[in-house]
Amino acid sequence: VRRIGVFTSGGDAPGMNAAIRSVVRTSLHMGIECIGIRRGYNGLVNGDFIPLDFESVSGLSRRGGTMLYSARSEDFRGEAGQEKAVATCKLLGLEGVVGIGGDGTFRGLLELSRRGVAVVGLPGTIDNDIACSTYTIGFDTACNTALDSIDKLRDTMQSHERCSVVEVMGRHAGHLALYVGVACGATCVLVPERPVDFEADVVEPIRRARLGGRTHFMVIVAEGVGSAYDVAKKITEATSLDTRVTVLGHVQRGGAPTARDRVAATYMGYEAVRLLAEGKSNRVVCVQGDTYVDYDITEALKMKKGLDEQTYTVMRALTGV
Ligand code: F6P
Repeated sequence: VRRIGVFTSGGDAPGMNAAIRSVVRTSLHMGIECIGIRRGYNGLVNGDFIPLDFESVSGLSRRGGTMLYSARSEDFRGEAGQEKAVATCKLLGLEGVVGIGGDGTFRGLLELSRRGVAVVGLPGTIDNDIACSTYTIGFDTACNTALDSIDKLRDTMQSHERCSVVEVMGRHAGHLALYVGVACGATCVLVPERPVDFEADVVEPIRRARLGGRTHFMVIVAEGVGSAYDVAKKITEATSLDTRVTVLGHVQRGGAPTARDRVAATYMGYEAVRLLAEGKSNRVVCVQGDTYVDYDITEALKMKKGLDEQTYTVMRALTGV
């Protein structure tokens, strides 16, 4: 393998830059040239690229966002776009491509591989919703960013004896909400994977906390459950508490990656290049517990991921549900 490409796609995640750096530096170490494809699949469709050398990725590990930009490409969804993407790979002489992103990114990689391009995927999303991997690049940083804001909210909620209702990202998954909820000692946590009994899961925990002496409350709502504004309205109706809503939004996607994300991204980047250099294709690099493994992309996409049961049980125990 003489030359490969690397790109980031879908929602960005802290640590994507560290993964890019690792792909570039590992490639150079193995005598492989590395080309950065910009703006996700759009870059492959439109031939938007940048050759990357040792220096061009210097100091990148600590930077949030992605130096290659990211996009959710409409053009690549159609047959014509996919043909153009493959033509770009041929023109540039890319013998392999590393795509960093979520399930949508992996489905795109499958299309490339069906047309003869060797591909490896790396899981990068703050949602941690990729079934084949217990961990995705960006999750830890997003948890810590959300936690930092929630700790600050607590101060003012305590002063005013209010109920804070915080909406966290996660798309259809509640992993981020659950982890953040456990970490901040939330009064209750609502996740889309479980049905919400408002009286039992929200009102009662608030009451119990009040009976225990607490005069401020922290309710964490995963965006997949619905609007935090609706939850806050219902809480006020049921309890007369003064509620305030905070939608954390895209702040959760930014910031310098934590050590965990830098290390995971660096390791995964190394593995991706190693697989391509060994002539492998159609693989996705994953974490299972403490071990890094790789799966066939088709198999990986068939897997299902539930909520971490242990964490959910602990959260329920501590919130007294
Ligand atoms: O997948 C990452 C994510 O941040 C989700 O948590 C969220 O639902 C979505 O992307 C937001 O997408 P956009 O950046 O397009 O608004």
